[in-house]
Amino acid sequence: MAYNLKNRSFVKELDFEPKEMEFLLDLSTALKTAKYAGTEQPQLSGKNIALLFEKTSTRTRAAFEVAAFDQGAHVTYFDPSGSQMGHKESIADTGRVLGRMYDALEYRGAWQKDVEELAAHAGVPVYNGLTAEWHPTQMLADFLTMHEASKKPYNTISYAFMGDLRFNMARSHIVMAALMGSDLRLGGPAELAPPADVLEAANEIAERTGARSTVTEDPDEAVKGVDFIHTDVWVSMGEPKDVWTSRVELLRPYQVNTDLMAATGNKGVYFMHCLPAFHDSNTVVGKEMMEHTNMPNGIEVTDAVFESPASIVFDQAENRLHTI
Ligand code: CP
Ligand code: NVA
Repeated sequence: MAYNLKNRSFVKELDFEPKEMEFLLDLSTALKTAKYAGTEQPQLSGKNIALLFEKTSTRTRAAFEVAAFDQGAHVTYFDPSGSQMGHKESIADTGRVLGRMYDALEYRGAWQKDVEELAAHAGVPVYNGLTAEWHPTQMLADFLTMHEASKKPYNTISYAFMGDLRFNMARSHIVMAALMGSDLRLGGPAELAPPADVLEAANEIAERTGARSTVTEDPDEAVKGVDFIHTDVWVSMGEPKDVWTSRVELLRPYQVNTDLMAATGNKGVYFMHCLPAFHDSNTVVGKEMMEHTNMPNGIEVTDAVFESPASIVFDQAENRLHTI
């Protein structure tokens, strides 16, 4: 059965029903298959999409641009300095202007209230390309990747998310796992615990879907028996550099390394990360952070795990395209 998602914005997972998410994931599989077979049919010919990025991006921008081109649409990319938005023009006014010219808008920025305001004023669908609170397009890629790798229905997948449980990736996983009926373990320190309102919203959904979630400070307990371990950077975009030391002190026990992978007791466990990841010192920031915090083998994940056969991070990155 098809669902009518035309003209719907995608600003947070909570706005969607489990069956709608499943439909989007099935559609992603169909589009991926068609792209591989060279039979993709453009459904968006003549459409124009504005991509507004107030924070940097590789995957999300690339996925939106390539997916739009593949589907016959045109895009305009606005970088943080490329528009008046936020400096000389309010988000509401920007939405009202761009909504007259474009068929849809993508927005990546600091706060959820901004993407919601854009959606309220644009009159065309608005897609959240990441805020501090939610990263919904990433969730579609993560769930498609878990489904492909495990060949399990979503409601039998069990996985752990390790690290900062207050930020976009953890929050989005809490809601998405609830929608899909999955078993999610959240491993992190009490100081970075998930917000109560997000857990509450997820628990309400879980009553309908049978999802389970566990929050624990014990890393080994978090990963026991899981199919996948996910993590994210420990310091997110928009956070100041001076939190590096204290954050690393809090999160050091939750690093994804070979011991943690072994603690799952599952020889077939996979490693996932939305990327970019600080797994080696081949970037300016990665090198500086590893030296500054005395973590020579990687920050949130060791290079050994990142480069191991268990790591499916590039399948996950590719699926950003098929899902977007
Ligand atoms: N995972 C993700 O959103 O990557 P980018 O920041 O490169 O878009
Ligand atoms: N938590 C990270 C996710 C990056 C895709 C950030 O917001 O920077």
